[in-house]
Amino acid sequence: MKQKMIGLTEKYVYDQLNLDASGHDWFHIDRVRKLALHIAKEEKRGNAFIIEMAALLHDIPDDKLNDDVDAAWGKLDDWLQELKLDEDRVKAIQEIIRTISYSSGQLKLPSIEAEIVQDADRLDAIGAIGIARTFAFGGKKGQPMYDPELPVRENMSKMEYRKGKSSSVHHFYEKLLRLQDKLNTSTAKKIASERHEYMVGYLKEFYKEWDVRL
Ligand code: ADP
Ligand code: NI
Repeated sequence: MKQKMIGLTEKYVYDQLNLDASGHDWFHIDRVRKLALHIAKEEKRGNAFIIEMAALLHDIPDDKLNDDVDAAWGKLDDWLQELKLDEDRVKAIQEIIRTISYSSGQLKLPSIEAEIVQDADRLDAIGAIGIARTFAFGGKKGQPMYDPELPVRENMSKMEYRKGKSSSVHHFYEKLLRLQDKLNTSTAKKIASERHEYMVGYLKEFYKEWDVRL
């Protein structure tokens, strides 16, 4: 029964995000699901079914992907109703999706399942894949790859960026380089350290080539 619900949800999510070009495509979802299940197994914690369902559905109502966020939440509710999941599970899945987003700013997550799905989503935002997703998102949004006139400051807040211009390289300082310290589980922290170092090396190389230092 659970496997059938997961299979149907995979297809539902694939149909919704298949054509996304902002780094929130089906393959992002699939990686987050795999990472989340891996973390749960290593940590020996969390309900695997809730984790897998929340990971599959986590970007359906995302405000970056939907102009009408209320309608997107309605769509998610309709899907969970259609599966005839019991009320407790529906609530657990909705709560994870509502609380894990970086922009929700929620510091204390409500469950171990939420902590694990958040870690998985954050791991897919860093490293080689994180770099690719950031430039894809920036291009889709129409922001420059990099703006050398805009100062790079490690402690720049999201508000400062919103007020002014931004660039995909600036997004590293706004968010990506901070994620390593915001993870919940030790399994995710271990995976993150190599990915973090890769981004630091990447930026060094980026500035070198930008300045045509040969
Ligand atoms: P979250 O819920 O934590 O925002 P998502 O899975 O929705 O996580 O994806 C966020 C990803 O989208 C970022 O890691 C980054 O790759 C991309 N992104 C978001 N905002 C920007 C931005 N201003 N510039 C470039 N990329 C961005
Ligand atoms: Ni995501």
